[in-house]
Formats: sequence, structure tokens, C-alpha cells
Amino acid sequence: MAKTVNKTKTVYVCSECGNENPKWAGQCPACGAWNSFFEQIVEPDKPVTLTTKADPMKRAVPKRLREITAESELRQTTGISELDRVLGGGIVKGSLILVSGEPGIGKSTILLQMCMKMRDLRILYVSGEESPRQIKLRADRVGEYPENLFILSETDISAVVERTQEAAPDILVVDSIQTMYRQDMTSAPGSVPQVRECTSELMRIAKSMEIPTFVVSHVNKEGAIAGPKVMEHMVDAVLYFEGERSSDHRILRAIKNRFGSTNEIGVFEMTEEGLKEIPNPSELFLLDKPENVSGIATLCVMEGTRPIIAEVQTLVSKTPFPSPRRTAVGFDYQRLNLILAVLERRCGLFFGASDVYVNVIGGLRLDEPAADLGVAMAIISAAKDFVLPEKTILIGEIGLAGELRAVSGIEKRLHEAASLGFTRAVIPARNRPKGSFPLEVIPAYSIKDVLNKI
Ligand code: TYD
Ligand code: MG
Repeated sequence: MAKTVNKTKTVYVCSECGNENPKWAGQCPACGAWNSFFEQIVEPDKPVTLTTKADPMKRAVPKRLREITAESELRQTTGISELDRVLGGGIVKGSLILVSGEPGIGKSTILLQMCMKMRDLRILYVSGEESPRQIKLRADRVGEYPENLFILSETDISAVVERTQEAAPDILVVDSIQTMYRQDMTSAPGSVPQVRECTSELMRIAKSMEIPTFVVSHVNKEGAIAGPKVMEHMVDAVLYFEGERSSDHRILRAIKNRFGSTNEIGVFEMTEEGLKEIPNPSELFLLDKPENVSGIATLCVMEGTRPIIAEVQTLVSKTPFPSPRRTAVGFDYQRLNLILAVLERRCGLFFGASDVYVNVIGGLRLDEPAADLGVAMAIISAAKDFVLPEKTILIGEIGLAGELRAVSGIEKRLHEAASLGFTRAVIPARNRPKGSFPLEVIPAYSIKDVLNKI
């Protein structure tokens, strides 16, 4: 017979992956994270009797697939089209959506604005961080109060669940998961076990009552979502709100979305009256572009289905130190090293004695290979100190042989460039765009070819 545990015991839990260990270790054997184990007291299991009331999740009955109505497919629009876009076209019934980002980036603001736009719905906004008065002050700045928006200041998750069951709202918002706690657990709010348990409570209520639930989560200083990865696995969508402190631009992107694409981004600007949508981000990213300066190029990347024109700035400067610096903001560091190696071997440039800095304007992050040509040309322009021609857009992925490789969605990119007043576009020769475009299209085979034609 198995021995029943009736004493409290101590386990060590990895804060990165949630792995449990009986002993402390410097490195987690499961995920390899260093210094991530923290102590946790485990209370003895309560005896389970058969009379325990089954929770609503367990009472669900299996349904035939063909009997399930397509009604569950219906999406509720949030009233903020940039948010709808990132969600994949609106809110799906019963979905659990995590909204994460650094403190002060605007998570509470966007969710409150969303609540205030959905005027026909009953919404319960639970805040563990701010008092109802503080929320009202914020609401005053962003719009008019709707009739059916209820504010609850609460941090006990079982009280939140109870109030939700009573009120049966159409939408539930919980701000933030790090302030919520379960009374019967010994660990502090915000600790991994608390975050995990509170998330699963919310998931239960979202699924059983089919209430779309938004959960705010802060990120730790490495940019990872605080709490275990397990939280990311539990929810249906993870939206990440990012932007630089110094600028007012905010970008919302889906890192995970069970009901849509993860490539879409939403662009906002933080103003005195809350967040404003930026329906045409290219214009924003091109604002204040300096003229007649070397090291600057414009390029076009696809963010999901939307082409976005971006500006990249580079600086190449001589250094007396033996190991030169490479800095990339908004661009992948490894990709930068690769481009530098290609430029050295295929174009005869030498960067061994120079620092190279790459910066993408407007807090945008270029993680699509079609940005390669723009970055490479900006670096050549900075190294040789010549100005790239005005009103020219550079599109193409660079291969290790220095060749230009075809990219997807070339027509959309060309249309976007033309609509913003660009007159020339350099594209990979293998891309043969269909249709005619109101700008000069210059096909090129390689980086060298681009240098000759531009
Ligand atoms: P907030 O939504 O509280 O951030 P989070 O919930 O992610 O921690 O955003 C707070 C910041 O936004 C704060 O610096 C003030 C600023 N802000 C504005 O500039 N305009 C506004 O209308 C509002 C409501 C906030
Ligand atoms: Mg907040």
C-alpha cells in the first residue's frame, strides 16, 4: 500500500520551465537555465472523497464533431482594428489570451480602451494593481464610460472566480496575473506555482463558461514572460506589447495564436488620450528620414499580410581595438555577422578594424530575410561613405555566394513602395512581379550587380 504523505516537504522548482527537483541545483537539468531554482513548500495532499463535487470542466459531455455548430467560430470585434488584426480577426469565444510586456508599456491602457469600445457587452475588469479610482482616472483620459463595464479590485483568485460566476460577464479581464494568489498556497503572489495555479483557474472559467479572458502578465528583465513556460502552453494566444521607452510607438505582436497567424503586428502611438492606432505604419517609420547622409537605406518587410517600409541606419567606424564591436538594434545579430562575412568575401570590403552599428528606426524588428539587401547596402554606403539614391527601395534576401534570392509577396511590397512615393525598387532578378507598377523596377542577380545598377 502506498504510504500517504502527511508532512510538509520542500521541493525546488525551476522558475524558467517549472521542473521540480528534490534538491537545489545551480543549473536546471531540464532546460539548462542557471540559478533558476527556488524553494517551495509542498503541503500534504488533502484526501479526495468520491462525494467531491465535480468541477464544470469535468462535467462536459463529448459531442460529435459534426454536431458542433459553427457558431463557436464567430469572432467578437474589439473595436480596435489593430488589436483585431493581431488576434486573427477578433476574439474567439472562450479563449484565454495573455497580454504581456514590460511595466508601463501600455497593457492596462489598451485593455481598458478595448473594454470602453465594446459598449454592448458586459465586461468585468479585475485589477489587482490599481484601485477603482485610479482606473477611473485613466478611463477619463481615454473615452466615455460604457454602461456595462464593472471594475473589481481583488487579488484572491477564488473570489475572482466566484464574482465571475455570479456576474457571468461577456468578457473578463484580469490585470495582472502576478498580483493574483490562491489562499491555500503558501508561496507568494507572483511566484511560479501561484502564477501557474491562478492561470489554470482562469482557464477553467474561460472554457467552462465560454468567457473570453484577457490576462495581463509582466515580463522579467530578460524579456521572457515571468512564470514558467507552462503558462504560455496553457493559454490560446500570447500577445506581446513592445516599444522603446524613448519613443511613443508601440507594437503589439502575437507570439502564439491558436486562432490566427503569428506574423501580424498592430502599431500604436501612446498619446495623452491613450493609445492611437496607426493604420499605415510605413509613413510613421519614414518620418524624419535624414537626407544626403551615407549609411541609410529603405527596405520593405512583410509583417504578416501587410508590407511595411522601414528605414535602417548603419555606422561603420574605425577602431583601434583588436576585437571590433558589432551592434544590432532591431536586426538579428547573427544575421548581421553573416552579411558582413558575405560583404568581405564577395565584395572585397574589410570590417576587421571597424565597429559596425545597425539600427532600425521606430522600434521595428526586422526578422524577415528580405531585409538583407537593405541592411547590406546601408553598410556598404556607410563603409564607402556614399549616399544611396533617394526614393529607392531595396528588397532581397542575400545568399552566402552574394546572390540575391527571391522573396515572397513582391507585388504587395512594390505597391506599398509606389503608394508612398518611391520611384525605384531593386528586387531579386528571380522575382518576376506580375502586372505593372508606377515605379522603375530594377532586377539584380547579386550584391555586386546591385552596386553596378544603382
Ligand atoms: P499602462 O497601461 O499603465 O502600462 P502597463 O499596464 O503595461 O504597466 O501605461 C502607463 C503608461 O502610459 C504611463 O507611462 C502613462 C502612459 N499613458 C499615456 O501616456 N497616456 C494615456 O492616456 C494613458 C492612460 C497612459
Ligand atoms: Mg498595468
